[in-house]
Amino acid sequence: MPKVRITETALRDAHQSLIATRMATEDMLPILDKMDEAGYWALEMWGGATFDSCMRFLNEDPWERLRLIRKRIKKAKLQMLLRGQNLVGYRHYADDTVREFVKRAVGNGIDIIRCFDALNDLRNVEVAADQVKREKAHLQLCISYTLSPVHTLESFADMAEKMTQMGADSIAIKDMAGLLNPIDCAKLVVAIKQKTNVPIELHSHYTTGLASMTYFAGIAAGAEIIDTAISPFALGTSQPPTESMVAALADSEYDTGIDIEKLLPVCEHFKKVREKYKKLLPEMAGVNINILRYQIPGGMYSNMVNQLKEMNAIDKLEDVLNEVPVVRKAMGYPPLVTPSSQMVGTQATVNVLRGRWKSFPKEIRQYFLGYYGKPPADVDPEVQKLAIGNEEPITCRPGEKIAPEMEQARKDCAAWSLQPEDALTWIMFPQVAKDFLPAKYAKKTKRDVGLQELVDGAAYPA
Ligand code: CO
Repeated sequence: MPKVRITETALRDAHQSLIATRMATEDMLPILDKMDEAGYWALEMWGGATFDSCMRFLNEDPWERLRLIRKRIKKAKLQMLLRGQNLVGYRHYADDTVREFVKRAVGNGIDIIRCFDALNDLRNVEVAADQVKREKAHLQLCISYTLSPVHTLESFADMAEKMTQMGADSIAIKDMAGLLNPIDCAKLVVAIKQKTNVPIELHSHYTTGLASMTYFAGIAAGAEIIDTAISPFALGTSQPPTESMVAALADSEYDTGIDIEKLLPVCEHFKKVREKYKKLLPEMAGVNINILRYQIPGGMYSNMVNQLKEMNAIDKLEDVLNEVPVVRKAMGYPPLVTPSSQMVGTQATVNVLRGRWKSFPKEIRQYFLGYYGKPPADVDPEVQKLAIGNEEPITCRPGEKIAPEMEQARKDCAAWSLQPEDALTWIMFPQVAKDFLPAKYAKKTKRDVGLQELVDGAAYPA
């Protein structure tokens, strides 16, 4: 096995980051055999936002996409992103739903499940992790990287140790915002390596221009796997380019085992795909300097700017940015990742425009009631009191509060369901599934027909 292994993100995070998760299965299938030959350790190709996007925008069944890709990939591992108890949806689901989802994901061909929780509350990944082990798939647990006074090298290393005890086969450092700099990355890898022997995978975004340097420093410190995107889908808010990382590490003790010649057809293919979706590409290229200045994720920054513009209050931007650390401290320093980043940003905006702690959005009340899990540090009890009044917060694992869902869901879709997976889709996306699933079986859409032709061997349109 090569010293440094590459996970290619073109089929998931790269297009989620650059073209709003719109890449269709038909854009993936024709190049899969070449990708399988290239020497990648894994292809990240499912989960995250792709599940929702498949149905909502592309009129595709995500389960079908998984099976179509699995059929063509023999060597590389197939990897997905799972948001712990949130699976690939937007709330916590019941334990029986989590177990069934993991079972079906592995059953349909997933090899590696990368599992994370926005608050780094390991109780929120516990059930999923247990099921991944039962299915004998590769369990990768994730540290959601963030900066705060309570997120120390020691706290992250302790987390990695706990993950190893939970059965993690590898640990990912997930730097959603591209805030991890090379120096800190090296220190973090060394600290984690002192507590565990499992391989470390680095996942970053190029938003701040740091990611390739950070990867190199992390590799030199002992990280074994890096997430990269083939160049037409790299850089900007996506990952560092695969070709550049392969070239940078070639013929050294960090060689990736990938022959750059084999990436050429992959690169050529995705150039065409990029061209097809160019209207969706972000306007701005280069580095977002504000992310470096304020140390918050790019999505959070642009959300705040948009919210303030809509309210005709853009002159308050500086005040809101200065309010972010105040809010975050009161909330016990949640990592700034979806959904906590939006929650912190919204509360900071509300605090500035309405007066500090004068009102709280519903999600923030739920947060202070414990329904998102346990924050990294204690919340401010006075702010909590203002948010939830006399209600008693829960302290147990949030998933324990949710009654089993599968049986009812199976009944609800019994009339039209053609595969057991449909009940899961129904639970996670009732609105979208209501339109999509029955229609899928009622009549074949144009896209279905086109896809079938592709599967049957029609050529990829030039
Ligand atoms: Co990412």
